[in-house]
Amino acid sequence: MRYLIGNWKMNPESDEKAVELARSVEQGVAGIEKVTTIVVPPYPFLGAVHAVLDRTLLGAQDVFWEESGAYTGEVSAHELREVGVRYVIIGHSERRAMGESNVVVNKKLRAVLEEELIAVLCVGESKEIRVKGTTAAQAFVKQQLEDSMKGIKNWKSGIEDNVIIAYEPVWAIGTGEEDDPQDAATMTRFIKQLLVTNYGLRVAVLYGGSTDAANVAGYIETGIIDGVLVGGVSLKADEFIAMARNIERAREVEK
Ligand code: PGA
Repeated sequence: MRYLIGNWKMNPESDEKAVELARSVEQGVAGIEKVTTIVVPPYPFLGAVHAVLDRTLLGAQDVFWEESGAYTGEVSAHELREVGVRYVIIGHSERRAMGESNVVVNKKLRAVLEEELIAVLCVGESKEIRVKGTTAAQAFVKQQLEDSMKGIKNWKSGIEDNVIIAYEPVWAIGTGEEDDPQDAATMTRFIKQLLVTNYGLRVAVLYGGSTDAANVAGYIETGIIDGVLVGGVSLKADEFIAMARNIERAREVEK
């Protein structure tokens, strides 16, 4: 299966616009078979968006790790499930930039797995690290993964289908400076191998960072990247749908 995830971030500005965007995506991806399309609106719009979705799935941008109680401003994995959420983005670089540590990301991952939702765990290096070379970028991402996935090795139930990794080099997010598909493929291969070696998990790995309708097939046709996590373009229904179509049509390549 190939994935297209649209992270709307703190957009759009109204319930009506959120529903309109969701409706357009839902209609636009009808007939697309090979791609799981997921839209990820802000919390207040989750319920209204869920009501107009059918084959498109619903995601959340964050979660809190406790089950319930006196945690003003927070939302639990169970509450997300209640409004129709199936996927939860964890550790997005914009949240990490606000101070979210790997320890916190790990707690959120556990909460999502406990609730049997699907975690989209984001990792990726800064420009400062990337300019030092691939080995430095891999060492950084390895540390992020190992810290974020602590305690997952002997998790009680099978979680292969409940974890997706999004490799998102920080310098490529929202900058128009997308990673070269072959470089992203090298990181993806590294991440996949690490997860098999450390946790015995064969998981889907997505790329994210300045993807659009014009460049998306290049990532899929590396044969190793399973889909994309999209920010900016996910707010433009037509281009987002074109991305779904281009992912569907991308050539099958031997891994
Ligand atoms: P972008 O964002 O597509 O706007 O670069 C990607 C992301 O934040 O996941």
